[in-house]
Amino acid sequence: MKNIITVDGPSGSGKGTVCQKLAEKLGWELLDSGALYRVLGLAVKRHDIAIEAHEKIASFARKMDVKFVWSASNCEVEPILEGENLAPFIRTDEAGQLASQVAAIPSVREALLERQRSFYQEPGLIADGRDMGTIVFPEAPVKIFLTASAECRAERRYKQLKSKGVSANMRALLDSIKARDERDQTRPVAPLVPAEGAFFVDSSDLTIDEVLSQVLEFASKSLSELPLD
Ligand code: C5P
Repeated sequence: MKNIITVDGPSGSGKGTVCQKLAEKLGWELLDSGALYRVLGLAVKRHDIAIEAHEKIASFARKMDVKFVWSASNCEVEPILEGENLAPFIRTDEAGQLASQVAAIPSVREALLERQRSFYQEPGLIADGRDMGTIVFPEAPVKIFLTASAECRAERRYKQLKSKGVSANMRALLDSIKARDERDQTRPVAPLVPAEGAFFVDSSDLTIDEVLSQVLEFASKSLSELPLD
């Protein structure tokens, strides 16, 4: 049995931070599948490939020259596409929009399957995304579905933007989050749905440490050799 913890859920649920902390604490590899779709979206735009050219995008995705490299100075994993560091662009709204467009193409999802699976390394993997427990790692022994109310996620995004000095409007953020939820949950391919047997955590009223301890407690029931203090 492979040591895999999948964490699926909508954006703003705290998945990214929780997954990073889990990977650090356990000393496991981390797959940020959203980052892969974001890089692909940016690459497609840079190469002037039309979003309607599904097969061209899928074929590009299969061969895409991207590496994810830990940067000790910035304390984050940076995506290097064809030798260029895309870290400054990856978290922009544009990258998010492009990601959700390429991610809705079935042949593109198929093209990225093996690449995502190849992130597995001993002693284990934390897989962050939307379809980690349902499609990419259905055999994972531990599956988490992390969510939070749309209002709470909009407020987190609002604070994040404000702290970066970016102006933001709560109402517009809430509408955009609800629209993205609707799209992600109802798309025909790999919709955002909880995997069978997934442990639900609602982070609306929890701190990151509280979420972490709930996840680790649940995981320790299935994974006997979890390296906990
Ligand atoms: O998680 P993140 O916000 O970085 O993901 C960007 C977009 O990529 C999501 O809105 C979603 O449409 C898509 N995505 C996906 N499947 C994944 C991860 C991300 O469809 N496993």
